[in-house]
Amino acid sequence: MNETLTILGLESSCDDTAAAVVRHTVGKPAQILSNVVFGQNELHSDFGGIVPEIAARAHVEKLDIVVEQALTRAKMQMPDLDAIAVTAGPGLIGGVLSGVMCAKGIAAGSGLPLLGINHLAGHALTPRLTDNVDFPYLMLLVSGGHCQFLIVKGVDDFTRLGGTIDDAPGEAFDKVARMLALSQPGGPAVEAEAINGDPTRFKFPRPLLNRPGCDMSFSGLKTAVLRERNCLIKQHGGLQSKDRADLCAGFQAAVVDVFAEKTRRAMVEYMTLFPKTPTFTLAGGVAANQAICGALETSSSELFVKFTAPPLALCTDNGAMIAWAGIERFRAGFRDDMTLAARPRWPLDNTSPAMLGSGKKGAKA
Ligand code: KG4
Ligand code: ZN
Repeated sequence: MNETLTILGLESSCDDTAAAVVRHTVGKPAQILSNVVFGQNELHSDFGGIVPEIAARAHVEKLDIVVEQALTRAKMQMPDLDAIAVTAGPGLIGGVLSGVMCAKGIAAGSGLPLLGINHLAGHALTPRLTDNVDFPYLMLLVSGGHCQFLIVKGVDDFTRLGGTIDDAPGEAFDKVARMLALSQPGGPAVEAEAINGDPTRFKFPRPLLNRPGCDMSFSGLKTAVLRERNCLIKQHGGLQSKDRADLCAGFQAAVVDVFAEKTRRAMVEYMTLFPKTPTFTLAGGVAANQAICGALETSSSELFVKFTAPPLALCTDNGAMIAWAGIERFRAGFRDDMTLAARPRWPLDNTSPAMLGSGKKGAKA
């Protein structure tokens, strides 16, 4: 086994072009030698959402630059690396293809081994990079595109306990922000408004709490906010700043209640299977929300579960999580080659029934 591994990770599956170099020596904490991210918010802000073609073109333009910067900041050259890891799905196919082609070019030119990484596995393995968390642990992965409870049992061994059956929560935050004319991405804007709002003024639903299990739904909640907004506009000809704050506070309180209860259920299921030293971790951009994070920390302490959340820069999309997943997979003996395919759909857990994005072509994530 290689005592020390140094891997370059590339990420381009959504709207961040990212590259990072991570080094790990067995028995020591991992070191993030560089972590470069180019976001694309300003490119998509006029369109009210991510435009896949614009995203793909921006990835093509930026990939070479992030790779060069990641190597320079890490004071590394290609021969100093042991392998190249790249997100091979799931995600927007143009972006995933750009990353995979870039990584294949580097691997072909340098002779370095290639590793294709599932983006969700990158998020799911991050607590081992940041906090050296042992398997098995429970994770809530909660972002603009994903929402699922996972038991992470090994490098390539995940069980999904449940997830959203419609919108991801980040997407719901973004849509609520849009309907209230707040800035994008909507999560931080809605959270900032909610601080001054009254969460009890509007009676928003807590979807699926009366249904057993850990599945969640955010689409109806988002529509309930839209209905109240339209009502206020009809009655008063527009929205006052107090209305906006109260709508945000009510919406966020409903999301918090859903997460708190569903997380408790996921913890009970997980602890029934793995009662020894339980750990709960968060990943994804929505983990930035203080109210959600605080509520989940409380749920954890009530059930005597250890709570960890990676620093925000490693919760959102980044190259370090892909490089780290590469290190884990390399050590476990996985290798890919030039036949590595870019996959728009790639569920982490093939055994649990698919909820989000399932259809003719199968489960998305
Ligand atoms: O993980 P991420 O950076 O990208 C992917 O979706 O893959 O997550 C971005 C999402 C956006 O929908 C954004 O609105 C949400 O995370 N977000 C938040 C907060 N900060 C970011 N949602 C709620 N509260 C926040 N403070
Ligand atoms: Zn992500």
